[in-house]
Amino acid sequence: MRETLIICASLLVLAVCLSGDGTATAAGMDAAGAAGAETAAAVGDIDTSMPGDPAAGEVVYSRVCFACHGTDGRGNGGIGGDFVGDPERLQQDNAVMIATITYGSDNEGRIMPAQGSVLSEQEIKDVLSYIRREFGQ
Ligand code: HEC
Repeated sequence: MRETLIICASLLVLAVCLSGDGTATAAGMDAAGAAGAETAAAVGDIDTSMPGDPAAGEVVYSRVCFACHGTDGRGNGGIGGDFVGDPERLQQDNAVMIATITYGSDNEGRIMPAQGSVLSEQEIKDVLSYIRREFGQ
């Protein structure tokens, strides 16, 4: 009886693994196809392949981000990150950028506060598109 249970459990795990692999590959290919050159990784439940609207993002930026990052994206005298002076900040993958904005970050005590409870997923994508368009190079 015990052996039967173990064999059944093993087969179940194998079946789940096999079907899991198949699904993941198919979904990955679909997402990569739909997103073109964009990174299609996911951050939690957020689909990072979906682009944002920079015009809507400008509204979000001037409401929430400008106080620390400055209207010119230069970090407002060292309060927030300087996007213009350090262009690599905005060149990270969508997944990394969206995670930073959603969950915040702590760079040796320099705190980027989490925005996930303040902004919707779409607003985060919008504001990311805006800062890349406006301050990326
Ligand atoms: C209370 C101040 C504050 C606010 C508000 C704020 N930030 Fe930040 N942000 C920071 C600080 C500080 C850092 C870390 C800077 C560093 O790494 O030196 C940071 C880092 C970042 C980074 C990461 C840069 C990197 O090097 O990876 C991004 C992207 C970012 N902020 C975007 C935003 C966006 C978009 C908003 C508005 C939705 C926002 N921030 C609002 C202070 C703020």
